[in-house]
Amino acid sequence: MSKLILNQNGVRRKIDFSSPTPLSTVLDMLPHPCGGKGFCGKCRVRIMGKISAPTAAERTMLSREQLRDGVRLACQVTLNGDAQVTVADTAAPAKATSSDVPRKKPLGEKYGLSIDLGTTTICAAVFDLQTGKRCTEGSAANPQARYGADVLSRVESAIQGNGNELSRCIRHALFDLCAQVMMTAKLAPGDVDAAVLVGNTAMLYLLFGLDPTGISTSPFQCDTLFGDFYPADFLPVRRGTKVFVPRCISAFLGADAAAAALACGLHRPGDRMVADLGTNGEILLRSGNELLGCSCAAGPAFEGVGLSCGSPAVDGAVRSVLLSGGRTVYETVNGTSPTGICGSGYTDWFACLRKTGELKKDGTLCADRVYLGDTPLYLSQKDVRAFQLAKSAVRTGMEYLLRSSLDAAPGSLDIAGSFGSALSMRSAVAIGLIPPQLTPVARAVGNAAATGAAMVLLDDSLTQTAYDLASSTKTIPLADQPDFSDRLCDNLTLE
Ligand code: FES
Repeated sequence: MSKLILNQNGVRRKIDFSSPTPLSTVLDMLPHPCGGKGFCGKCRVRIMGKISAPTAAERTMLSREQLRDGVRLACQVTLNGDAQVTVADTAAPAKATSSDVPRKKPLGEKYGLSIDLGTTTICAAVFDLQTGKRCTEGSAANPQARYGADVLSRVESAIQGNGNELSRCIRHALFDLCAQVMMTAKLAPGDVDAAVLVGNTAMLYLLFGLDPTGISTSPFQCDTLFGDFYPADFLPVRRGTKVFVPRCISAFLGADAAAAALACGLHRPGDRMVADLGTNGEILLRSGNELLGCSCAAGPAFEGVGLSCGSPAVDGAVRSVLLSGGRTVYETVNGTSPTGICGSGYTDWFACLRKTGELKKDGTLCADRVYLGDTPLYLSQKDVRAFQLAKSAVRTGMEYLLRSSLDAAPGSLDIAGSFGSALSMRSAVAIGLIPPQLTPVARAVGNAAATGAAMVLLDDSLTQTAYDLASSTKTIPLADQPDFSDRLCDNLTLE
């Protein structure tokens, strides 16, 4: 049996454990807004003893000095034997004491909701605001899909007179989803007294019943970019509770992009890029003190929508594919029988088909339909074209940001979004989704927009940080770039 000496708030106690064991399972009092993926930085501790070496995520999140000082991310550390850990004052400089460090103040007092209003999927999580722990989470399809799969078609539908209905249906869906996650956490409406909601600019306009005409036509003027508290009358929460919506960056880059950037640390010094890949691809780059962003109309292919056998990443969706001994093998979400293919599954499959020669570099498929192993799931030429367009839009957006910055050498590329969470970087590179210079620093970080929303919920000082980040980001309008169409065509190739 090994020993962990825990120092917390001036109290010292001993915890026995069998090594090796993840530190986060021993220290279960720490908040984990990013779900332990190593990119929110909220589980920092100072630790010494027999522990694993820093991971790539820690080397991105923490400075060399911090690592030298023993500061680590608890979610990334494995205990290999006896160790001593200090919790609470670890995010502070080495000489600080716990009394120097202001405690983080959440937006409410009891429980809070963090909500990600996506074009295809809506997600909600409940947090205990005293401990910072996530109690439950859930997701559902965005019912506005019946008015169009992408943002533009829904905005057009609203302009043609369906605005009230678009607002009404998403309000109902958010109410139902939040009621469901709160019920799982055994909470009543009176228990929840704070909420943070993120979404792209158009989704927020449609939620609040605002006229989206200005954000959909040149010069793309916004009547509001949010960044304030609003009545939470569409959520099952305590009466009088307000929902905080972080500031959007522009008509094309929403509060979700700002939240993802916050979660991935773009408000701190260091050159980083984050690509939040959903129906609307939003990409941000920090280079020195400059913050640049662009939005690319990827369409819903990455989320498995609009493809013959496409599926969101739900139970039964094929999420990874590889070649083994000349056979195509696959894995589904939760290991159930295959019912569809999600974005990461398609990316892997394309990479395999390129290897076997069944898919040409220009996207030509060797047959009208290619089946996945012995399943009834197949790929058509139309599917390949839809995926090529999405992939090209994202790659082109990344290239423009790199080209627009003075010193384009980001030390990390965080691929966010449900598509990104199961994405194999090897396959993403094989089909040319990522520019070659970013390949060694690319990693999948899951739903960073939701993580950013949770971070704001748990720390009210981040409402201002998110505002500053959004207001200082310059949007690059891709369609205005002189060689945009040429780049888009060139990037259709599956390398
Ligand atoms: S929980 Fe460890 S970095 Fe987010």
